[in-house]
Amino acid sequence: MSLLGAGSKLPLLPLLPLLLLLFGQSLSAPRSFSLDYKGDCFRKDGEEFRYISGSIHYSRIPRVYWKDRLLKMYMAGLNAIQTYIPWNYHEESQGYYNFIGDRDVKYFLELAQDIGLLVILRPGPYICAEWDMGGLPAWLLKEKNIVLRSSDPDYIAAVDTWMGKLLPMIKPYLYQNGGPIITVQVENEYGSYFACDFNYLRHLTKLFRSHLGEEVVLFTTDGAGLNYLRCGSIQNLYATVDFGPGANVTAAFNAQRHAEPRGPLVNSEFYTGWLDHWGSPHSSVSSTVVAKSLNEILVTGANVNLYMFIGGTNFGYWNGANALYSPQPTSYDYDAPLTEAGDLTEKYFVIRDVIKMYHKIPEGPVPPTTPKYAYGAVEMKKLQTISDALEELSFSGPVKSMYPQTFTELNQMVGYVLYRTILPFTCSTPTPLSSQLDGVHDRAYVSVEGVAVGILERNKALTLNVTGKAGSQVDILVENMGRINYGKDINDFKGLVSNMTLGANTLTGWTMYSLSIDKAVSQGILWERERTSTDPPHPAPLSPPVFYWGTFSIPDGIPDLPQDTYIKLPKWRKGQVWINGFNLGRYWPARGPQVTLFVPANILSTVALNNVTVLELEKAPCGSGPCTVEFTNTPILNATVPSGYKQRWGLFAKEDLL
Ligand SMILES: *[C@@H]1O[C@H](CO)[C@@H](O)[C@H](O)[C@H]1NC(C)=O
Ligand SMILES: *[C@@H]1O[C@H](CO)[C@@H](O)[C@H](O)[C@H]1NC(C)=O
Ligand SMILES: *[C@@H]1O[C@H](CO)[C@@H](O)[C@H](O)[C@H]1NC(C)=O
Ligand SMILES: *[C@@H]1O[C@H](CO)[C@@H](O)[C@H](O)[C@H]1NC(C)=O
Ligand SMILES: *[C@@H]1O[C@H](CO)[C@@H](O)[C@H](O)[C@H]1NC(C)=O
Repeated sequence: MSLLGAGSKLPLLPLLPLLLLLFGQSLSAPRSFSLDYKGDCFRKDGEEFRYISGSIHYSRIPRVYWKDRLLKMYMAGLNAIQTYIPWNYHEESQGYYNFIGDRDVKYFLELAQDIGLLVILRPGPYICAEWDMGGLPAWLLKEKNIVLRSSDPDYIAAVDTWMGKLLPMIKPYLYQNGGPIITVQVENEYGSYFACDFNYLRHLTKLFRSHLGEEVVLFTTDGAGLNYLRCGSIQNLYATVDFGPGANVTAAFNAQRHAEPRGPLVNSEFYTGWLDHWGSPHSSVSSTVVAKSLNEILVTGANVNLYMFIGGTNFGYWNGANALYSPQPTSYDYDAPLTEAGDLTEKYFVIRDVIKMYHKIPEGPVPPTTPKYAYGAVEMKKLQTISDALEELSFSGPVKSMYPQTFTELNQMVGYVLYRTILPFTCSTPTPLSSQLDGVHDRAYVSVEGVAVGILERNKALTLNVTGKAGSQVDILVENMGRINYGKDINDFKGLVSNMTLGANTLTGWTMYSLSIDKAVSQGILWERERTSTDPPHPAPLSPPVFYWGTFSIPDGIPDLPQDTYIKLPKWRKGQVWINGFNLGRYWPARGPQVTLFVPANILSTVALNNVTVLELEKAPCGSGPCTVEFTNTPILNATVPSGYKQRWGLFAKEDLL
């Protein structure tokens, strides 16, 4: 990339760095950022430097709010931010790159620099991050036996192509080239992965160096234990560790010292909170505990990154999952110092007070929490079921095969696929329909002749009974609830990944519909056909998956509307919700702990009616109660969860996730 070309796309860069970009290092003192092994510190422009950073994932925050969140981070006293680049967010289909709008990572870097924040960049290729497949694109699985995160030639070829696109774009933003990026992480917690492939790490090191140059500080991050550092660290990549408030700070940094006897101490992920899973109680960590431990870290002179400083939202289908299969909810609030919606919390100010003891805090007011508005209840109308709307939803038309194919085979990465077959014989008594090999990935909504008969769920419900005449139509809508993002099971194929049996027989003769629901919703196809129906007066305990639609307008005469809000679906069970075609994510109040979904104001309209589309997979409250969804000004992320889903996830212990 020519420097002039890059410079012309950097309107927000302050003048001096731009000049440096254009005229190399001939002007004034050269910008430099390096490791000092003698002084056990970083050096910025030759001076001793320590960062206090916070994690923010641009992929989890609408672009219009990037500036507000970054400014709040700056005002907390941070001098740097850390962000991941999720590969699958930028290359959803192989060879098609997207760096515009919410994916405009260059603009994000420019904003950070404008505000006065340095950047610690974590471009993967694997990022974990509770993000679908740890950021790896699902199309990698087209090579069925691919060994991800290893020297497997198919994997390496894809990584080389991606990094060949990404890293040259990043290069002008390196600190020494006039940009904000001080350090770049290679891979992520590689020592927690089974492969332990040093050739892979060596390859990445060479690849990063070839695109970014010899000067940039490259580093790795691993759990603060020798068992992690063993396979995670390698010569020529500076080894750092991660640990939360529960850890013994001395012991944790001793582990880093084992890998790096000299150089700066760095905790690359100091946990301010923790992640959630559907069906487990909401994680929260007291501000006092975080503050005390942060102080212990800072007093040693170490560098630290607070993970997360703002968690944000897994919009759409972007959440990941842990093994044994347990998906993460839509909110990635993380109990961080800034909430999912960017609100200031007690934890924010407590952390700021700790930082104040070590670094000068910028003067001036902290940007306020954005106001939220309760737009109230919205009446919902029933539209078609998925089975009835297949023509509108399956743009590519059905695929037929003897045995079921996976999402990847059908060239669908996320969302929902409908698998259709028939009962091969009459089941006059209840006959088990089973996925004996736990092959429903991840949840299946089964109906026979349009009547819902039950739900299958990975690891949890592998069989249900059906009755019906030979030839009856069996529809199995399979939901991909998010790919595993951590551990050895990240090759997470979706759909029906093994055969279904009816009694002792393997079901055959499948017709499979890849569903482009997002496209249909954003084009308004579903409701414009006006094929609405009503719910029966005596509702069955379960309905086939069905769409609902409603509209609301932003009230007149109230200043500063539209404002952010939260959508709540009381007594609805599980599904997906869109507003004006924007996929807000999954709701599952029946499982919890998340009850409300964050609705950023930028997707709302003051000039047109706002459209709410809901795909309810199990059963809407309509027919027996108010058929409404509700917009409120208060989030609920901590509802009590049904018993039977006991908390399996400890705080701060990676071992719990293995
Ligand atoms: C923390 O670890 C250090 C070094 O291993 C050890 O000496 C110390 O006793 C530990 N402190 C606590 C409270 O366990
Ligand atoms: C299926 O029906 C059989 C016979 O009625 C019963 O024993 C079994 O528990 C049922 N299985 C399920 C999953 O409901
Ligand atoms: C389904 O069963 C057939 C016949 O036994 C077998 O060839 C095929 O591989 C199976 N498919 C899956 C996905 O397990
Ligand atoms: C809602 O849908 C209607 C019908 O498709 C459309 O005319 C309108 O512009 C949509 N509203 C917004 C805010 O997109
Ligand atoms: C959820 O959090 C709120 C606010 O901190 C608290 O008032 C409420 O009691 C909590 N609810 C549950 C069920 O823990």
